[in-house]
Amino acid sequence: MQYKPVKVAVIGCGMISDIYLENLKNKFSIIDLVGCSDIVSVKAEKQAQKYSIKHMTNEEILSDNEIELVINLTYASAHYEVSRQILEAGKHCYSEKMMCLTMAEADELNRIRKDKNLIFAVAPDTFLGASQQTARMIIDKGLIGEPIQAVVNLSRGYHMIKSSADDAVRKFSVMYEGGGIPYDMGGYYLHQLFNICGAVESVCGYAYTRNAERRYLNPRHEKFNDNFTVKTPNTVCSSIKFRTGMLCSFNLSSEYNTYSEQFEIRGSEGIMYLADPNNFGDKIYIQRKGEKLEFPLCHPYSVNSRGIGAADIAWAIRTNREPRLSFEMGYHALEIINAISECTADGQVKRFTTDFTRPQPISSEYYSGASEERSLFLY
Ligand SMILES: NC(=O)c1ccc[n+]([C@@H]2O[C@H](COP(=O)([O-])OP(=O)(O)OC[C@H]3O[C@@H](n4cnc5c(N)ncnc54)[C@H](O)[C@@H]3O)[C@@H](O)[C@H]2O)c1
Repeated sequence: MQYKPVKVAVIGCGMISDIYLENLKNKFSIIDLVGCSDIVSVKAEKQAQKYSIKHMTNEEILSDNEIELVINLTYASAHYEVSRQILEAGKHCYSEKMMCLTMAEADELNRIRKDKNLIFAVAPDTFLGASQQTARMIIDKGLIGEPIQAVVNLSRGYHMIKSSADDAVRKFSVMYEGGGIPYDMGGYYLHQLFNICGAVESVCGYAYTRNAERRYLNPRHEKFNDNFTVKTPNTVCSSIKFRTGMLCSFNLSSEYNTYSEQFEIRGSEGIMYLADPNNFGDKIYIQRKGEKLEFPLCHPYSVNSRGIGAADIAWAIRTNREPRLSFEMGYHALEIINAISECTADGQVKRFTTDFTRPQPISSEYYSGASEERSLFLY
């Protein structure tokens, strides 16, 4: 039996749209990519031409009765308004992270999706890839024993020094509300930790904006040397306690001119060294009383498969199951990152009562060719 592909459209045709459009168009048989829109019409026109889909307006997408699922690839400060409109129009929604800026907005989106019985899921979907599913399998099979501590240390440099033509029209989401490194990269680490260890019990820590008043650095940018204000925390140092008892040291900053990354889960019988959770096929190592050895990736989707979360939703719609990505995981990530800023202000430990169903793992039986997609059909 063949399943009818789900008609999908994309709102927001910026930097990340290429890989989504490429994969939604070509990688997943369950998706029929119809069109794309952007408030900067010329950007949508360019992408529509490139991927042989319709150049649409937001309104045309929202009023098209055949489109069932809309993917929100706008920047974080636009996520709430665009996702709200998608849900109000009666369509399932997949939004890039974070789902919105405030918990009040998140609660409102929750209310609408529940009222209308719609799926609303939030990126990242990278934890469905080969590297992170293999990591989950290592934990589930007890290969490093009981997870006791996790370590996340990430240093990057977000200095607006790029020089591509797109930089002239792009809003630098990483400098605005909901887009700084704790939200941007933090979401990847948190989703993988949720995938592996479930929900968080409490958090405490500090967040601040270093060098909030700065200048455009790129001499080719029309605003070169003009002042601007960074409107997001860019440096975070925090401690997270998971309900399982696992403790996590969670530290991120975009204020370095060098790149460094550490993502480890330390268990009672060994250490697992994970890779950048933004990627699909990075290497994983484990160390059990001796040498640190590479562990073979044994799951499908080892190349950049952004859009896999939307494909999983499409399979969930057609086979009447729960999608692996959920509103609840996106909500939990947002409340944790926001809570770190609240701790900074009031010095209190923040406790959470929200929970989510730990996503079903992806089968490791099929890992190449067209059979890869069977892993999403299966639950
Ligand atoms: N750039 C990356 O490497 C990357 C990677 C993974 C995820 N993301 C996430 O994807 C999202 C988009 O990032 P990006 O880098 O592509 O940003 P971007 O600024 O390049 O693109 C966002 C696009 O959304 C459009 N837009 C804004 N408001 C709109 C509205 N109301 N209606 C229609 N279009 C609207 C903008 O005009 C712009 O073209 C962010 O949430 C980001 O965190 C980005």
